[in-house]
Amino acid sequence: MVRSTFMERSRGSSAAHEVLDGIQASLPAELFADSRDEGGAPLLLVAACRSQGHAVEGTFLAALAERLALPAQRVIEIAAFCDGIMADQEAITLCRGVTCSLHRAETLHGHLKDSLRTLGPEREYHEVFCLSQCEFGPSVMHGNRIWVTRARRVVEDGRAWRDEDSGPVSLTDTSRPVAD
Ligand code: FES
Repeated sequence: MVRSTFMERSRGSSAAHEVLDGIQASLPAELFADSRDEGGAPLLLVAACRSQGHAVEGTFLAALAERLALPAQRVIEIAAFCDGIMADQEAITLCRGVTCSLHRAETLHGHLKDSLRTLGPEREYHEVFCLSQCEFGPSVMHGNRIWVTRARRVVEDGRAWRDEDSGPVSLTDTSRPVAD
């Protein structure tokens, strides 16, 4: 009995990995060949899984967590972030600040836009100078959550400015702070 449960689990796991192989093959190989921290593979792979309707739970979650070398809870948080991006049409904020750009933000944004394009109408993007996650960016914000690429996680944006009816400075905003 125990043996057959184990065999069922391992069959489920290899089926999940086969599905993941197919999804991963549809993404640029460089994402996975690269250093694990740099390319944004967790965000893009989980987004691709969710866009194809795969529930991030059970055996599939375990396989995904194993593949990404992340704790399952972290993968669930990334899936929730992806679901949020896909479910509502609110603009997505992309950091094009110096540090994020040095860590290939533009490439990550391109892949993210490509995958969202397959789901529906063109999305609105805001490009900003900084999301205060420089140490581990490139950073992508949606709602009050930020995907931080080199930390390989989603964090909550708890900055004080969010309570003051202001926001990140747009790349096209050339105004200067008003001097006292
Ligand atoms: S430069 Fe992107 S978070 Fe600061």
